[in-house]
Amino acid sequence: MRLKNKVALVTGAARGIGKAIAARFAAEGASVVVSDIDFDEATLTASALGGSGGVAAPCRLDVTQPGQVLAAIDFARQRFGRLDILVNNAGVTTRAPVLDMTLDAWERILRINLTGTMLCSQAAARAMIEAGGGRIINIASISGQRGGSGRAAYGASKAGVINLTSVMAIEFGRHNILVNAIAPGPTDVERAHSTSAQRQVTLSRMAIQRAVQPAEIASAALFLAGDDCGMITGHVLNVDGGFNTAGIVYADGA
Ligand SMILES: NC(=O)c1ccc[n+]([C@@H]2O[C@H](COP(=O)([O-])OP(=O)(O)OC[C@H]3O[C@@H](n4cnc5c(N)ncnc54)[C@H](O)[C@@H]3O)[C@@H](O)[C@H]2O)c1
Repeated sequence: MRLKNKVALVTGAARGIGKAIAARFAAEGASVVVSDIDFDEATLTASALGGSGGVAAPCRLDVTQPGQVLAAIDFARQRFGRLDILVNNAGVTTRAPVLDMTLDAWERILRINLTGTMLCSQAAARAMIEAGGGRIINIASISGQRGGSGRAAYGASKAGVINLTSVMAIEFGRHNILVNAIAPGPTDVERAHSTSAQRQVTLSRMAIQRAVQPAEIASAALFLAGDDCGMITGHVLNVDGGFNTAGIVYADGA
């Protein structure tokens, strides 16, 4: 049990990568607040984790709403007594070329992916400072590190998350809060974010040419949340099958 007696809040945890992280943390002994804008699905997820022997509670949280963010942190503390770990996972994707970008689309992506991460981190860090420390794990993306067609808003939001990770690592270090990011490559989730043709193009640029599994992201999050991660802060851990490392990759290895 690598997270025994720890309390974690995962945003966007009703499904996908967030759900896998919540499940792994619960299996490792953490009490988990399963938060999501979709409360009904968050409730189902929390019930499933409880049914598997974990401790989990659902919470309605739209990460763009400061009042809901404060309420979610209070909920974690009232329900489980403290908050040790925040995973900023809630995120949305759209594809639009810059020439076609609307201001609404741009602002929506930035507000959820980047502003939401800042609001949740700010509120959680205040609680963690009172408690003597904690961990913040931000789910970024390979799109925050590389150019890509149609990824202006999404990529800029995730590049912002990566820089925010660095800034918070520096600012929160003296409070014993470690702040790291995970940058997933294309990951198999219930609601696919790309067509299979688009997915094939991405896979062809990876050293390990298969989709990432949510459980593999959860394993990286577990490492960053646990005691094995003692002096690592401000780091971006790519879980991307070598996408960010790769240049030209031929299928035959030649
Ligand atoms: N799936 C991938 O290939 C991939 C790759 C790289 C990075 N990511 C990142 O991983 C994270 C999770 O992605 P996923 O693929 O599991 O997505 P998903 O769509 O399966 O799940 C995202 C969850 O976030 C919730 N959500 C959306 N807006 C919200 C808001 N304003 N407040 C709170 N919750 C909200 C949704 O209800 C949903 O349950 C995102 O940050 C995404 O950018 C995903």
